[in-house]
Amino acid sequence: MALKATNPTTTKAWKQLQAHFESIASQHLKDVFSSDAERANKLTVQWEDFYVDFSKNRITTETIDLLVALANELDLKGAISKYFEGDVINATEGRAVLHTALRAPKDAAVFVDGENVIPEIYEVKQKIEAFTNSVVSGKHKGFTGKAITDVVNIGIGGSDLGPAMVVDSLQYYKNHLNTHFVSNVDGDHYQEVIKTLNPETTLFVIVSKTFTTQETLSNANSIRAWFLKSLPQEAVSKHFVAVSTNIKSVKAFGIDEANIFPMKDWVGGRFSLWSAVGLSISLALGYKHFESLLEGAHQMDEHFKTTDFNQNIPVISALLTVWYNNFFNAESEAIIPYTQYLNQFATYLQQGIMESNGKSVDRNGNKVNYQTGTIIWGEPGTNSQHAFFQLIHQGTKLIPTDFIGYVESLHGNKDHHNKLMSNYFAQTEALMNGKTEEEVLSELKGQSLSQEEMSKLLPFKVFEGNKPTTSLLIQKLTPKSLGKLIAMYEHKIFVQGIVWNIYSYDQFGVELGKQLAKSILNELTDVSTDANHDASTQNLLAFYKKNC
Ligand code: F6P
Repeated sequence: MALKATNPTTTKAWKQLQAHFESIASQHLKDVFSSDAERANKLTVQWEDFYVDFSKNRITTETIDLLVALANELDLKGAISKYFEGDVINATEGRAVLHTALRAPKDAAVFVDGENVIPEIYEVKQKIEAFTNSVVSGKHKGFTGKAITDVVNIGIGGSDLGPAMVVDSLQYYKNHLNTHFVSNVDGDHYQEVIKTLNPETTLFVIVSKTFTTQETLSNANSIRAWFLKSLPQEAVSKHFVAVSTNIKSVKAFGIDEANIFPMKDWVGGRFSLWSAVGLSISLALGYKHFESLLEGAHQMDEHFKTTDFNQNIPVISALLTVWYNNFFNAESEAIIPYTQYLNQFATYLQQGIMESNGKSVDRNGNKVNYQTGTIIWGEPGTNSQHAFFQLIHQGTKLIPTDFIGYVESLHGNKDHHNKLMSNYFAQTEALMNGKTEEEVLSELKGQSLSQEEMSKLLPFKVFEGNKPTTSLLIQKLTPKSLGKLIAMYEHKIFVQGIVWNIYSYDQFGVELGKQLAKSILNELTDVSTDANHDASTQNLLAFYKKNC
């Protein structure tokens, strides 16, 4: 059954939220904390190894009630069932959205076109496990009889970002295999990677859901040509495997059927790391850790499916985005992990969130008359504090920020971890409280300045505060807790899409540029082509062709 398609701004709850917004928008977080001693407890959700404190947001318990009423009025519950049960909720592409089935237990049953997809999922998992074990143990030998030392994932977008982020985030758990990622069609990217590689000991994993992506096929072809300079054609089967839905094209590329790890079209690229797209994760970390990642995600799926909305981490998190985006007119959200391991996390979420919810036509095919989507950005703390935090603290934009921290560090250096986490705690406090004129003056008084000097400096040193943050405090970075965290953001994306009445699982917006690039490539390689461009593009092309 199709998803309901209601313009959220026409609901009763939206109107109540508007009135509520007007009554609380000017409240300062500092004041709401001092008027309610129980606020922090009331607005914190503890679930398994996650402690999620929503209390430093510009909300009251009534805000949560009204946002939940909005979700109910828009039938979020019904939509969640359709999502998990394999309904065709990606209606514009005529597909189900079933990344959740990839991490469901073996005895689950999820039907697509009348067929339970779980047995096939487990067949592919077994293939991933067997292949991983044989490569990691050294049983799988390259063409010249040497064990594999390096794995290169060739893919882009969802066929790169998820595996690359997870392998980097969980590098503490890595085995001896060196893992590399080639994504950009920029030839310098693959050249830099292969220059350190020995073809005799390298395994190439070509990942492309469609197997039509220009970047991936160009990189795969160039890398294969480089490989064939040292080894014969028969060596390809020992060194190249592929992950795709497009078995015919993979075979046409020259990869044996036995070396193909299939995936299904009901797995969206940006949600595909749980499928065979995660092969590089399994190779880099070992299958057991890959399985734990999936288990963690499944636990978050269960939390999301079964928990009341007012205690449901992805639901509250998504509704807060709606609150800031549509009532406070916030345009972006920052994601700041206080661990260097999650260095690539914001980049990964940029695709997940912005490719999904960057839409301006609703599920009825009408142009929306409200804001959708959020701009996602971020970098690990404390580095980001020394880069862009100034703007979050004292700039003119409201930037709700997720702070992700861990109770335990992996290598266990307590001194460093306490320093790191003191910054994690201090930043959210500083963003909330700011610094008043009185506080600044009393600080300046201790600095032997004249009255005039103090008055001059005063306005620059005041921090308004009242900047919203959510603190996620997780016990430890493990494959399982990372699985939970990623799944949390996946469900957040889903809930936002339901509320905004948009289709989150297509990505037609990336097509136009691809089409134009194809025809411009013809012009760059064929001097006789004279296409019709605007004057700016025409000049740029002429300048490039003349000077290249
Ligand atoms: O950028 C568009 C996109 O289709 C993404 O959604 C996808 O993750 C990426 O390209 C790569 O696609 P494929 O896995 O088919 O090569």
